[in-house]
Amino acid sequence: MRASPFIAILALLLSAVPLHAAARTCNIAIASDDAMKFDQSELHVAADCSKVTLTLTHTGGMPAEIMGHNWVLSKTADVNALATAGGKAGAQAHYVPPGDARVIAHTKVIGGGESTTVTFSTAGLSKGGDYTFFCSFPGHWAIMKGTFVFG
Ligand code: CO
Repeated sequence: MRASPFIAILALLLSAVPLHAAARTCNIAIASDDAMKFDQSELHVAADCSKVTLTLTHTGGMPAEIMGHNWVLSKTADVNALATAGGKAGAQAHYVPPGDARVIAHTKVIGGGESTTVTFSTAGLSKGGDYTFFCSFPGHWAIMKGTFVFG
């Protein structure tokens, strides 16, 4: 068989091709507290991250019913309407309207001492787009929000 050297060379060439489409999951973390604050006002995700795993921690001690926090990502232009709709959706829905296309990603609501993680695709994000993360717990989003930079 004369084919095997060619196959070996072909395999070698293929292995040398950079996998531009390779999935890359990037991790980010943010903390919240009993003072109704996030510990960061800006989060950065590199444009070559195909997925993001965000971990939200609540470093306080108050229960979720009183000082609950979640992490919601949307276009900045959608924040006000989305936060209002989230409030109407209620605690059972974690203050996120179910199936709402304006929600790019969100976690559940957590209380003091808890943490939660969400993994989402960046396929729907535009490089350099105007995005905001916020807590949609009623009354929190006016203070608990920040800029999400993709790029
Ligand atoms: Co909150």
